[in-house]
Amino acid sequence: MEAHLLEWLNLAVRWVHMIVGIAWIGASFYFNWLENNLNRANPREGLAGDLWAIHGGGIYHLEKYKLAPPAMPENLHWFKWEAYSTWMSGVALLTVVYYLNPTLYLIAPGSGLTPGVAVVLGLGSLVVGWFFYDLLCESRLGQYPRLLAVTLFVLLVLAAWAFNQVFSGRGAYLHVGAIIGTIMVGNVFRVIMPAQRALLAAIAENRPPDPSLPGKGLLRSRHNNYFTLPVLFIMISNHFPSTYDSSWNWVILACLSVLAILVRHYFNTRHKSHKFAWTLPVAALGLLCLAYVTGPTSQPIPVAQAPIANKAVVVAAAPATVTSLPAATEPPPPTGNVSFEQVNAIIQQRCAVCHSATPTNSMFSVAPAGVMFDTPEQIHLLAPRIAAQAVAAQVMPLGNITRMTPQERDLIGAWINQGAVIH
Ligand code: HEC
Repeated sequence: MEAHLLEWLNLAVRWVHMIVGIAWIGASFYFNWLENNLNRANPREGLAGDLWAIHGGGIYHLEKYKLAPPAMPENLHWFKWEAYSTWMSGVALLTVVYYLNPTLYLIAPGSGLTPGVAVVLGLGSLVVGWFFYDLLCESRLGQYPRLLAVTLFVLLVLAAWAFNQVFSGRGAYLHVGAIIGTIMVGNVFRVIMPAQRALLAAIAENRPPDPSLPGKGLLRSRHNNYFTLPVLFIMISNHFPSTYDSSWNWVILACLSVLAILVRHYFNTRHKSHKFAWTLPVAALGLLCLAYVTGPTSQPIPVAQAPIANKAVVVAAAPATVTSLPAATEPPPPTGNVSFEQVNAIIQQRCAVCHSATPTNSMFSVAPAGVMFDTPEQIHLLAPRIAAQAVAAQVMPLGNITRMTPQERDLIGAWINQGAVIH
């Protein structure tokens, strides 16, 4: 029951997070687009520019003021709750997925972190991340935007590396995303909104606004602009174990972020020129290269030492069993024919506590991701996904809570290489 409630809580919070997140990023993309496409030739008195658009069957005429209209309108729309609610639902989701079950998703197997410490570390990193970022922007470094940007990038990659020492790959990625998300919302809450309020107050009191305010707001919104695409990737990264589960995951994240920033830069500048159009093919090529270098590198597990004439020879070879494997630190990969009985015993012990029509693990009321290992046929059909999750990426069992050994992974890998035969 509890597991079932947790699943629906996850559903509700995730859905809300997605909806408000789309509202926030959508509005932010839209206003960036407006700003970039404003017609600035011969604006009317007091205007910075205007723009015509058609959408949903209506024709719109938008005007941007240099500073403010002669009389402030009664109803001025602000855009802030999109950002605040994205952050709040994000922290709620972080709690539901990671902090309620730190051993499952957050703590790296073998890191020795206790659940309490892991949660404090996770939440603490968001707070520290924001204050450190704010400090850097306000310091003298803030006057050198490019140097600041490079510094921020290096620090975030460093954070990814550091998280990776104690958190699971996906936990590490998500916390980098959460730090960036917190910074983005902090920018709205602590800098951009106050600057806008100060501007309105100055206009109302008929005095010149503080000239430093727009500059500060601009720096922060520029950061937010370039943060957007990397954050969006991080939020879906848990679908891609070949990124977060690699031991070079922090480098992979850095590369993906660079590609995303390049693409963003093109979209930010293309109204002026297509000088940065090269970023699109370069990003596509970069993605291909990353796909290539993150590919499986391990040699196929040898089925037999001698060249095999036919399967019968393999069957005749002494079958390797889990218990007969030497206890050396680096045991040789299994070389004989692996029987389904051996593999089934491992899967029932290490996987079926969760992956069954009737999971015995209290965290799950239904088989996670619909994956069940109750019958030989199910196991046979799922063999490629078992190989991906438990042999190549080794992200299953989740948090390795059932303590699967490397030998067992090798054995399953060999069985799958041999054709995942069940009879
Ligand atoms: C503690 C519970 C648990 C254990 C034990 C566990 N899993 Fe999973 N597994 C999950 C959850 C939860 C998911 C859902 C995906 C996610 O949230 O990452 C999942 C997803 C999967 C998927 C689907 C992923 C995909 O997209 O293809 C496969 C395949 C899988 N597990 C295989 C295994 C194998 C093989 C084992 C044993 C070696 C195993 N799991 C042990 C909890 C578990």
